[in-house]
Amino acid sequence: MCGIVGYVGDRPCRDLLIAGLEKLEYRGYDSAGVSVISDGEIDSVRAVGNLANLRAAVEEHSSNGSVAVAAPPATIGVAHTRWATHGRVTEENAHPHGDCTDKIHIVLNGIVENHAELRKELADDGHVFTSETDAEIVSHLIERHYEGDLVDAVRRSFGELRGHYAFVAMHLDHADLLVAARKECPLIVGIGDGENFVGSAIPAFLAETRRVKMVENGEIVTITPEGVEISTPEGEVLEREEDEVTWDEDAAEKGGYPTFMKKEIHEQPDAVAETITDRLPGLDSVDLSELELGDELLRTVDRIVIVACGTSYHAGMIGRYAIEKWARVPVEMDVASEFRYRDPVIRDTDLVIGITQSGETADTLAAMRLAREAGAKVLAITNIMGSQATRDADAVLFTRAGLEIGVAATKTFVSQVAAMYLLGLRLGELRGTLAPDELRELIAGLKSIPSKIEETIATVDARCKAIARSHHERRFFLYIGRHIGLPVALEGALKLKEISYIPTDAYAAGEMKHGPIALLDESTPIVAVATDSPVLEKMLSNVEEARARGADVIAIATEGSDNVAEVADQTLFVPRTDWMLQPILAVLPLQLLAYYIAWDNGLNVDQPRNLAKTVTVE
Ligand code: BG6
Repeated sequence: MCGIVGYVGDRPCRDLLIAGLEKLEYRGYDSAGVSVISDGEIDSVRAVGNLANLRAAVEEHSSNGSVAVAAPPATIGVAHTRWATHGRVTEENAHPHGDCTDKIHIVLNGIVENHAELRKELADDGHVFTSETDAEIVSHLIERHYEGDLVDAVRRSFGELRGHYAFVAMHLDHADLLVAARKECPLIVGIGDGENFVGSAIPAFLAETRRVKMVENGEIVTITPEGVEISTPEGEVLEREEDEVTWDEDAAEKGGYPTFMKKEIHEQPDAVAETITDRLPGLDSVDLSELELGDELLRTVDRIVIVACGTSYHAGMIGRYAIEKWARVPVEMDVASEFRYRDPVIRDTDLVIGITQSGETADTLAAMRLAREAGAKVLAITNIMGSQATRDADAVLFTRAGLEIGVAATKTFVSQVAAMYLLGLRLGELRGTLAPDELRELIAGLKSIPSKIEETIATVDARCKAIARSHHERRFFLYIGRHIGLPVALEGALKLKEISYIPTDAYAAGEMKHGPIALLDESTPIVAVATDSPVLEKMLSNVEEARARGADVIAIATEGSDNVAEVADQTLFVPRTDWMLQPILAVLPLQLLAYYIAWDNGLNVDQPRNLAKTVTVE
């Protein structure tokens, strides 16, 4: 999740733009850049690393005479903080990106899904690319369509782009005009007097103005010092109310939410959409060509071993069910801190997958190194480009959740589960264990998940708040699940432990009668993950076992499952999908339940006691 900011007005803007980027630092980034139009030239500076590096590069750039000292200060520009998804962390890959004439500069947040085919088309037309990024496509596409009218060129380019993005473009010949477009990723305009701003989030310009206009999905916005015009891709001008932002800067960083965890819970649709977007170009195949493992290995590997810690381990468990079901490859699981010391049997025909959002968790890295030394191929699934895990693996599958600040993982979890689904489907496709129509259905199902996450959060939020209100003083919770419901129960129990410090246990429901059922009485809340699965009937009888001992049952069920509601005290429904995809939705009410219980107990959900976001030591 990159940060973008643009300015057009009458004030010198390079520092304004960099100050805007500093307000977007919380989004996380690995490189940055700024382009301004000054004295008939586009003056662009980019740097790898933090904004201090960019400031130093601008300093050096200004002092080594590359900017004519007498030149009037620039009053239009675009700037960007990059969270790398396509292309390494280099200065060339940092934004802004120019076209062949270097007259058009763009900054983009998100992912251009059809970047590969457009790059080929444009290169065949003679366009020369200077970066590995998907974003640079946009500047060349605008160049292709530009016939003196930047707005028209952006409209026509917008029509050819597919994906999940928002971008801002400027042209040297139009030093009083910015044109931006939004497809899913957020874009907001900041209204000033004789000046206007555009950004990916309000903090980018909150220090300068509290007057904003939201740009809705699929809209184009034209920004000049005098005004802002929002229109459809066809050119129909749209009326848009101006809003007044009342948030303070802290709240703004949290996107208006009270905590980073709540903001990140609401960023889950984007996190999954960006993780799957260009890997599911159509409905017939999964594109994991970025994996340097090669299809032959995926076609022939005879055992997969997944190692991870904490929440990442639970994402791996869901992946195990999916891979075994769709690809019929045996999958072993182990927590990394056990795997690395139990002298595991590793074969050079194994594929070992290390799942770690931070890419820096010591136990997982050690487990990956152990596997590699034993000759196995190692795949890292991580959220951070340039992290240690990317260096300790033979191949990397990046999740694209953006920086996660809340210690309790939420958006990185669902993006890891999405990554495991992609891998499971690709293995099934390559090994011919998934029939084409089954594959099509599952790909369509996975593509529908971002909107279903949005729908789930909207429908269960208030109920979770109410249930938390009536349960936040309970001193123990038991979570149960079966089959793919078990890793969801484990994750729900971990979330409540992590942020509310209430003891919880999570159990395979079929195991309850072999011990934990002794814990049950009227005061024990049971959280039962009872979404659709091949063993739902069995799960329901386990729920009845618990009810018979007086426990009050909070069930998570697939919409329309009245049979679950009949055996539970409270039921939270999630939208219907293929049963194997249900876990990515079923975890959402559990995140919210844990969140509100911790909140009602007045706890700091973003920085719980005794916990660190990443454990890099033994
Ligand atoms: C813990 C975090 O330190 O590490 C958990 O508190 C996380 O939220 C676990 O799941 C594993 O982290 P990672 O970065 O390896 O996925």
